[in-house]
Amino acid sequence: MLTVSKLNAAYDGSQILRNVSITVPERQVVTLMGRNGVGKTTTLKCIVGLVKPVSGDIGLAGSSLNGFRTDERARSGIGYVPQGRDIFPNLTVWENLQISLVVHGRKPNGQVDRVLELFPVLKEMLKRKGGVLSGGQQQQLAIARAMLTDPKILILDEPTEGIQPNIIDQIGDTLLKIRKEGKVSILLVEQYLDFCLGVADSFYVMDRGAIVAEGPIANLNEGIVRKYLTV
Ligand SMILES: Nc1ncnc2c1ncn2[C@@H]1O[C@H](COP(=O)(O)OP(=O)(O)OP(=O)(O)O)[C@@H](O)[C@H]1O
Ligand SMILES: [Mg+2]
Repeated sequence: MLTVSKLNAAYDGSQILRNVSITVPERQVVTLMGRNGVGKTTTLKCIVGLVKPVSGDIGLAGSSLNGFRTDERARSGIGYVPQGRDIFPNLTVWENLQISLVVHGRKPNGQVDRVLELFPVLKEMLKRKGGVLSGGQQQQLAIARAMLTDPKILILDEPTEGIQPNIIDQIGDTLLKIRKEGKVSILLVEQYLDFCLGVADSFYVMDRGAIVAEGPIANLNEGIVRKYLTV
């Protein structure tokens, strides 16, 4: 579904990503792991078009996204949940969801109801301002908003960061539900190992801007974890 090949990226001339290649097959959950500052978010920003790579190719469902703007990538089927969530704090939950539909020129058509089935907690909070929700609820709102664009691939940047365990479980269950429905592939950037083990089919590990390990999630062994993931 998503292919990233030989991506190189730099900020102000200092190289951050080195030949990063990642494949997310259809209907699968792939996790990209690594310690703080290794380049995970930069990789996602290249995929969604917020950072322009020095070189490399990004493809979605067989078509190249090279040269596409961020909004064109979103319309092509990339749903992005950024690190830190970025919901609109002064809009209500309902308005936060509607804005996604308006921006994508879509009619509600029951889509809001369908997405709210994934996040029942949001149903009770439609009139509340986004900014007063808990971190976990905001995260769920951000995922719901991305799902409303009917993406081919959902890209999440550290959805468990700063969130309490019972909400982390709910988010994990939701990702598994999305996976089971089989319509959306998922690329998950995460540092929380147990969460990845619970939801992912395969993994990539990044260190200093390069992919240093990859494979089926069952191959994520103690040696890799100690060398590249624990602090
Ligand atoms: N806009 C920017 N300008 C300059 N340097 C940046 C910029 N954004 C990130 N960096 C640097 O690029 C490197 C990779 O950052 P990135 O945010 O991709 O890491 P990350 O793996 O997502 O880390 P974290 O787990 O802390 O979110 C870091 O050294 C960071 O300081
Ligand atoms: Mg990051």
